[in-house]
Amino acid sequence: MNRKPRVLVLGATGQVGGALVHLLKVRPEVEVVAAARNPDKAARLGVPVVHLDLDRIETFAPALEGVDRIFMATGYTVDMLRQSKDLVNSAKRADVSQIVHLGACGDDDTRVAHYGWHQFIERYIEWSGVTFTHLRPEIFMQNLLGYGGESFIVNGAIRHYVGDARLSWVDCDDVAAAAAACLLDPQRHAGQILRMGYEALTYHDVARILTAALHQPFSYEARPPAEFLRNVLAAGAEPAYMKCVFDSYTDFTNGVDIGADQIFDNFPEIAGRQPGTLAAFVGKHADRFRY
Ligand SMILES: NC(=O)c1ccc[n+]([C@@H]2O[C@H](COP(=O)([O-])OP(=O)(O)OC[C@H]3O[C@@H](n4cnc5c(N)ncnc54)[C@H](OP(=O)(O)O)[C@@H]3O)[C@@H](O)[C@H]2O)c1
Repeated sequence: MNRKPRVLVLGATGQVGGALVHLLKVRPEVEVVAAARNPDKAARLGVPVVHLDLDRIETFAPALEGVDRIFMATGYTVDMLRQSKDLVNSAKRADVSQIVHLGACGDDDTRVAHYGWHQFIERYIEWSGVTFTHLRPEIFMQNLLGYGGESFIVNGAIRHYVGDARLSWVDCDDVAAAAAACLLDPQRHAGQILRMGYEALTYHDVARILTAALHQPFSYEARPPAEFLRNVLAAGAEPAYMKCVFDSYTDFTNGVDIGADQIFDNFPEIAGRQPGTLAAFVGKHADRFRY
């Protein structure tokens, strides 16, 4: 190829995709293009933008023209199944040579439904024959800033719905760093599933870390999962996805072990540095937590 490989980043206006665009746009060896359903929203990213709406298949072929590598991200919706299938088919037709997929947590035999949806997508990508790497991050630290339209931390009070469960955490910036490493060197992690979660903490631990970092008291109150479902649906979140999250929160609250506290040691090999800690994340976003 006598031009730079073109990398198309989906979810570029979101948490992981946005961080990925910033990492790739300074790399001279690739050309990065942001895909957005609302191109105006992506203009601030400072890279070329193409229109791609995952719910409008007619936007796929023009957006994929000349694309070599894709970062494939979908939103918090069951529509990910239909959207991803269409996208993989279109990518194949467009001779895309690599897909890096943003999936979710879990062992292969997970019974958490939305983790399973991502695994169906993984298998479909594999079936396509395109070179792939699957990212399976555990819980995003960014959820502490808000999730499903809900703020969990207000004036030092952490309200959450997972009882005393210990969860494995990862910073979206680290997920983006892993995606960048894969997209810059497609063969390095080809055919692999990269599990990503580096610190196992309960929300009581999170409260302690916030208290120590910000010198203000934070405390955690476990709330009933039904309250979560009510709040996120009222905020407009997608019901099928949030029902799965609710089911997993119910399991956590009831002490069911769904393997959500597993941590991994792969990040230095993937990204050449240590993963971010929750204390460092709190430091980066101190203004959002302080009251
Ligand atoms: N939160 C967690 O703890 C966690 C853990 C593991 C895995 N995950 C997975 O991470 C993924 C979400 O990543 P994120 O948090 O970075 O997402 P996010 O910040 O919510 O952003 C979603 C992105 O997808 C775009 N998008 C949504 N619908 C679209 C459509 N129809 N066409 C084109 N683009 C569309 C959004 O565009 P707009 O800006 O236009 O809305 C946005 O750029 C999900 O698949 C989730 O399962 C989350």
